[in-house]
Amino acid sequence: MLVDVAALRYVAPLREGGSLPGLIETDDLGTYVVKFTGAGQGPKALVAEVITSEIARRLEFRVPTLVTVELDGALAPAEPDQEIQDLLRASVGRNLGSDFLPGALSYDATAFAPEPKFAANLLWLDAWTNNVDRSWRNPNLLWWHGHVWLIDHGATLTFQHNWGPVAEFAQRPYDARGHVMAPHVNSLAQTHERFRDIVTSELLNEVVALVPEQWLGEGPDAQRDRYVTYLTERLKAAPAWFPNLDSAA
Ligand SMILES: Nc1ncnc2c1ncn2[C@@H]1O[C@H](COP(=O)(O)OP(=O)(O)OP(=O)(O)O)[C@@H](O)[C@H]1O
Ligand SMILES: [Mg+2]
Repeated sequence: MLVDVAALRYVAPLREGGSLPGLIETDDLGTYVVKFTGAGQGPKALVAEVITSEIARRLEFRVPTLVTVELDGALAPAEPDQEIQDLLRASVGRNLGSDFLPGALSYDATAFAPEPKFAANLLWLDAWTNNVDRSWRNPNLLWWHGHVWLIDHGATLTFQHNWGPVAEFAQRPYDARGHVMAPHVNSLAQTHERFRDIVTSELLNEVVALVPEQWLGEGPDAQRDRYVTYLTERLKAAPAWFPNLDSAA
């Protein structure tokens, strides 16, 4: 399970985030960027956030520590902004916190060329998990203490929104046009050789087990298995889903 902490104070909204994440102080003396279950994107965005971020961490990307943040009803009335008050009321219970990286900058790949190996690794991760949210306009990458950190995986695992045929998702090529790393990658073949042996079914089962069952709906364990199946089948279908890098760059 992810570590569970309790929210003590709503500090500020992060207005640039589409899902209206908020900065929250918690009882472990921490400060987290919290994504709320009551936000428009709904709990599935949080499920994707946990699964893809924790896979990324196990592939040795830098990812802020994730926790669950318990919100009780007492926080909402103190909040003057009506929109935020509504969001807090709709999100009582477990939400998702990402350890706040103070002073982090948005990473600009047009100004600082990435290492080729890192670029290929990241594009592979996003292609496999079908991340539609890593464009050069909004890369969801932070620059902090001399390294690139990955955030915002809510728009990955897009299959979960309609659970179409697994074979179709497994084969579907990733559209890398506009992807922040596409101009810096020639091939995903070498990355795939390394990564496919790391993301075993054991690892995937360990990662889906981290998702709080409240976010999964009916039959949470069967839901967890579905995520593992879709990801495993897609992994096996490589290189069917590798992006066309000639048109993407
Ligand atoms: N752990 C963190 N530490 C520091 N800043 C963060 C962290 N997580 C998010 N942020 C900041 O908050 C912004 C919004 O976060 P995030 O991208 O996760 O939210 P979102 O609502 O999914 O955004 P969008 O869909 O608009 O990209 C980020 O662009 C970043 O500036
Ligand atoms: Mg974002």
